[in-house]
Amino acid sequence: MIIAIDGPAASGKGTLAKRLAARFGLHHLDTGLLYRAVARDVRQRGGVLEDASAASDAARALDPATLNDPGLRGPGAAEAASMVARIAEVRVALREFQRSFARQPPGAVLDGRDIGTVVCPDADIKIYVTATPQVRARRRYLEMQSRGEPATYEGVLADIGRRDERDAGRDASPMRPADDAFLLDTSNLDIEAAFDTAVGAILGKAGQRGPV
Ligand code: DC
Repeated sequence: MIIAIDGPAASGKGTLAKRLAARFGLHHLDTGLLYRAVARDVRQRGGVLEDASAASDAARALDPATLNDPGLRGPGAAEAASMVARIAEVRVALREFQRSFARQPPGAVLDGRDIGTVVCPDADIKIYVTATPQVRARRRYLEMQSRGEPATYEGVLADIGRRDERDAGRDASPMRPADDAFLLDTSNLDIEAAFDTAVGAILGKAGQRGPV
């Protein structure tokens, strides 16, 4: 079984994907980490993020064993990731790794921006997780505060707006729901309610096809 989870920054898709993977006994890949790692590697090699050939070289040479680098989790890394993610060659270079990850038995949950539309268009179920920019900014701001990271709500909201615009407005695999995606708006849902809704959608879909 392949579950594709897409959605904008701070929509809750990462937490949801992890929990769905545990619930259904599947592998999980946070595909944002791939783009974050490419940006890290471009910079480590002394390159700039706008350089398409440096970024695609870094994407082709990416070592998946380096994806658990804690440095990839910060907001600076996210912003840098969204810059290299605009480059079509970078996306192509990362595509096969994502597809072979998805094909591993017994299946996988992948979360990102283009999983249902481009990486796994034949996924068994596609969920597009969203929430208003204000709700996403509030969640991210509270998360950062609890980790003692300096942030203001207005600053986080502006970052989210800029990233949404870049991710949805690019030519290469823009962020958007697949036509057959289940839309999950978490603006008024906590993680438990979002998880229960997603499990219901998955079991409902599986029920239509016969036992899993
Ligand atoms: O999910 P995230 O916040 O870690 O993603 C960081 C950036 O990487 C995001 O702003 C856009 C890019 N990205 C992408 O273009 N496609 C994906 N499948 C995952 C992430």
